[in-house]
Amino acid sequence: MDLCTDIAGLRAALAKARLARPAVEIALVPTMGALHEGHLKLVDAVAGPSRFVVTSIFVNPTQFGPQEDFSRYPRTLEADLAQLKARGVHLVFAPGPEQMYPAGDKTRVRVHDLTDVLCGPFRPGHFEGVATVVSKFFAVVQPDVAIFGRKDYQQLAVIRRMAKDLLFPVEIQALATVREPDGLAKSSRNMYLAPDERARAAAIPAALAELDALIEQGRGRLRAAEARARFRASLSRVADSIDYAEVADPEDLRPLADDALVPPRVLLALACRIGKTRLIDNMVTSEDVRP
Ligand code: PAF
Repeated sequence: MDLCTDIAGLRAALAKARLARPAVEIALVPTMGALHEGHLKLVDAVAGPSRFVVTSIFVNPTQFGPQEDFSRYPRTLEADLAQLKARGVHLVFAPGPEQMYPAGDKTRVRVHDLTDVLCGPFRPGHFEGVATVVSKFFAVVQPDVAIFGRKDYQQLAVIRRMAKDLLFPVEIQALATVREPDGLAKSSRNMYLAPDERARAAAIPAALAELDALIEQGRGRLRAAEARARFRASLSRVADSIDYAEVADPEDLRPLADDALVPPRVLLALACRIGKTRLIDNMVTSEDVRP
């Protein structure tokens, strides 16, 4: 496994990989490091005999707000490299910020509408930072395929739109959320949770499961206002605060109107805080496995 920390080295390594015969496809797994089983499953899902797998590790400063956890975000490069090597990754790209944001940079990528809802209002600039850095990765790696987790459902929608609009010839794949045995979605931020907070966090997937069951039983007769109220009520039993608990359209991510009937396929998405840790989760009913 090669490790590149600068763009020139990355481009040279990729040029060499593209000369291989039989030809290989370049597969990209973008990460911010602090890898867990969810990341490794992304690697497994894109790996294959004719794939050259590149994983990026970069804690992207532009996607963190001033009050967010950029400086304390876990950085575990040595352990990450060992795990990626064991998983058969061919190349790791771990640039410094000066590589991704050249001195004097002035350019940002903004995806409209999809970023005005759900996490958007609570994390101003976040999706602009994500779309910007991922478009830079697409520009330098030129992957044939890139993979992202459905746990960050809004991020996935934003990246799909960005890739289409900026004409990147990349296939975007998505992987189902990887969960702990009690249903909690795997996240690098779970390591911030104290033991009592971690115990409480199990109620998040339970709230999703409860609402999914209610929607199924409601058979198209449940109103969005009622669904939303029930969702908030089950979360508020454990969360210290709730940013949103939404019932929304899985494509444009817009919350359903209060009086709309909840269709069988709908996005349930939430962001809440347990202690100081902000956790997100989601599921699309009739599509994702109930957590
Ligand atoms: O999901 C993440 O880890 C990050 O948002 C990503 C896609 C690597 C961009 O920094």
